[in-house]
Amino acid sequence: MTLANLQESINFIKKTGVPEPSIGIVLGTGLGKLVDDIQDQIVFNYEDLPHFVTSTLESHAGKLIFGTLGGKTVVVMSGRFHLYEGYSFNEITYGIRVLKGLGVQKLLISNAAGAINLDFNKGELMLIEDHINLQGGSPLAFKNARDFGNIFVDMSAPYHKEMNQQLEKIARAQNINLHKGVYASVVGPQLETRAEYRYLKTIGADAVGMSTVPEVIVANQIGLPCIAVSVLTDECDPDHLNPIDIPEIFAMAAKAEPSLITLFTQLIKQL
Ligand code: HPA
Repeated sequence: MTLANLQESINFIKKTGVPEPSIGIVLGTGLGKLVDDIQDQIVFNYEDLPHFVTSTLESHAGKLIFGTLGGKTVVVMSGRFHLYEGYSFNEITYGIRVLKGLGVQKLLISNAAGAINLDFNKGELMLIEDHINLQGGSPLAFKNARDFGNIFVDMSAPYHKEMNQQLEKIARAQNINLHKGVYASVVGPQLETRAEYRYLKTIGADAVGMSTVPEVIVANQIGLPCIAVSVLTDECDPDHLNPIDIPEIFAMAAKAEPSLITLFTQLIKQL
């Protein structure tokens, strides 16, 4: 990854005449429906954008969508990249750097995650207050990383406090059960063993998933305030663990999706 490539991606998109977005949104697994609420859409396939990597998953559409939501100009990454697809940390976070270059000032992230905290139920939402990076690497650890900013990034408050409070307030007003907790990121794609779920609980995780943390690290590097919400799709109880059912994970994501859409849309109105 070079600064010149990044600038080329940004310029290519800007030259198409898209409106400057103030808010960026990353949609996680099974969470694509928010796009239906976006007006005046301008849609790019990742594969048509210079230096973008393309998604291999059917569940991740691989589109960059500009439009209006909650009265603001937004850009949505519908389809994100994961380490488990064989991409590098640089590749999976490239889009975040592009969003910033396009003018995005605030970033809202969603993902699907397993509930480690057994007080939380599948189909519910969790606001990520903090995270644990278990992916064995960093999106800031590469040779020319300093070209892109400071690499010794402070992570004492990676999620934006004020936006988190706004989101909690909206959840209360809308009667949406929004838990708060710590998200642990793993590489995947295999799910966890019972011993790994016990370990995750012991180290303080409330949810586990395969994304988000690299994006948040980069957002912090480039000074892009962000928040992230997990849709809890399964309950990771090591003492009563059922074999994972991927269709059920998608069904749970779909169940919680309307609440997530409400939260994000209402927050965007306030930003
Ligand atoms: N583990 C890891 N990632 C996940 C899970 C899980 O249980 N559920 C959804 N994404």
